[in-house]
Amino acid sequence: MSSSTQDDKDKSQADAELNGDYDLSQAIDSRQGMRQGLTSYGDAHFSLFLRKVFIKALGYSEDALSRPIVGIVNTFSGFNPCHANVPQLIDAVRRGVQLAGGLAVDFPTISLHESFAAPTSMYLRNLMSMDTEEMIKAQPVDAVVLVGGCDKTTPAQLMGGISANKPILHLVTGPMMPGSHKGVRIGACTDCRNNWASFRAGVIDIEEIAALNEELAPTAGTCGVMGTASTMACILVGLGLMPFKGATAPAVSSARLRIAEETGATAVKIISAGDKLKPQALLTRESFLNAIIVLQAIGGSTNAVVHLMAIINRHPAVAGTINLDTFDEIGRLTPLLVDLKPSGSNYMTDFHNSGGMAELLKELRPLLHLDALTVSGKTLGEALDRERSISVPQELRCIQPFDTPLYPASSIVVLRGNLAPGGAVMKASASKDRRLLKHSGKAVVFAGSADLAVRIDDDNLEVTPDSVLVLQNIGPVGNPGMPEAGLVPIPRKLAARGVTDMLRVSDGRMSGTAGGTIVLHISPEAANPESVLGIVRDGDVITCDVEKRLLQVEINDEEIERRREARRVEVEKDGSQHPWKMREKMRGYRGLYMRSVNEADQGADFDFLRAEGSG
Ligand code: FES
Repeated sequence: MSSSTQDDKDKSQADAELNGDYDLSQAIDSRQGMRQGLTSYGDAHFSLFLRKVFIKALGYSEDALSRPIVGIVNTFSGFNPCHANVPQLIDAVRRGVQLAGGLAVDFPTISLHESFAAPTSMYLRNLMSMDTEEMIKAQPVDAVVLVGGCDKTTPAQLMGGISANKPILHLVTGPMMPGSHKGVRIGACTDCRNNWASFRAGVIDIEEIAALNEELAPTAGTCGVMGTASTMACILVGLGLMPFKGATAPAVSSARLRIAEETGATAVKIISAGDKLKPQALLTRESFLNAIIVLQAIGGSTNAVVHLMAIINRHPAVAGTINLDTFDEIGRLTPLLVDLKPSGSNYMTDFHNSGGMAELLKELRPLLHLDALTVSGKTLGEALDRERSISVPQELRCIQPFDTPLYPASSIVVLRGNLAPGGAVMKASASKDRRLLKHSGKAVVFAGSADLAVRIDDDNLEVTPDSVLVLQNIGPVGNPGMPEAGLVPIPRKLAARGVTDMLRVSDGRMSGTAGGTIVLHISPEAANPESVLGIVRDGDVITCDVEKRLLQVEINDEEIERRREARRVEVEKDGSQHPWKMREKMRGYRGLYMRSVNEADQGADFDFLRAEGSG
């Protein structure tokens, strides 16, 4: 065959794949299946023979073993109610795979739930990403469906999936349904926090908080507001890794099972597309810019900024082309269009019933990079063209038109200044007292979570509504796992007076389901001997000006350097218990984490897992 004939054939096949017209016979002809990644015994034929001996113990026939193999990542756990429907989803994926002519094989990885992972699920996110990457690489799978949903699961799976670079599709478990209390809809976890704050302030009593406890998570599935899980699900659609309805269909709906079946069938098809739909080829800079547009338009979780930076830095061709400033620049152009808690008032089921991601992305067309490819084999623009608009009465619609947004721009902003030279993040759209978006006040400093717990409700604490609450040492190293403690509670004596918001500043994270005027992810973190956050003292004046994207402490450079030098000496002295010093000798995963985790602005990933390695 002449090279031009071969080129024509390759081109027509590529065109067919781009149009979604896959050729399964090509997949079977070029499959790797059971023959790939053989265990090393020094004799490849024996390795394959032995592999078949063992897999036949499970009852597979030669016909089954000759098919393209789709791995299904099973993240079910009795400690993970967000993943309670995973067994049904796996059944539905398997059905889709087998209807399309493939062989489905599920295998487990770590399962992380927010409330069942000490010290935090974030501490284990990178471990889960390593588990996911290595199991995808180690096992004979031609494509993988990543089933999961809780906050850290989808980021970990995508980080691992990009690094493994076999074809991947995401299938999230889907949001839970809202509950009801005294005739009012409620749902995890925004209403968990609101009601707990009311309980702390003495507005509701112990019986009422107990009744709420029964209703806040009434079904299986992920938190039903625009928390981190929902945010990441929407982002996966923006990246082209899930069908439009995949982000919003309720966990307990039949729609969710049909999406699972469709995902299984698509997984078989993408195998025949060769390298083109592997994540390192499929995902481009434009895919990630689309993801950031989605993040801003949905008023998504600030956690997604950390996760996206970690994901981006896993991608050899995109790492280094997007940083925190990219999020801010996109934010200035992107209106907030989705009216969901915590920025708004609705639940994920309302978003789904309003047309979900397809309707949102149509509104965002003027901003999106429509040529970005999706796992369907079509571009985002082509996929949107095929979606019929649904008609929802405006009063039931929680997606605003592009021209009449809920918030004009910049739901998430990036702040810089001497307090955060590496950047800090704030969800401005979730501020409860907008006066605080431009504010100077005296710092009330807590040295860490333990100090906060002891003193925040002390009647003698010198604090006013204008104070700035500063929480140090809850960054990636300072409090391993960077806990979601950035939502520093309003001191009880102020809450009882009706204060509901104050400017709060930390190097930690905040649940995507929470709201307030909260500055997060300050880099470098306080535990870093070079940080300025770590040397802030009670009474220092802190200025936050969102319009100017400014975060600074009003002390001069000489004083900053004097305090930093004193701290360097303190950290280095013999017997120092400072975590920066202690990490050199820590064992096990804790030691690996403490020595390898990078700053929040880099994604709090392990240095050696980035695309370029530690290098
Ligand atoms: Fe799993 Fe909220 S706890 S999504």
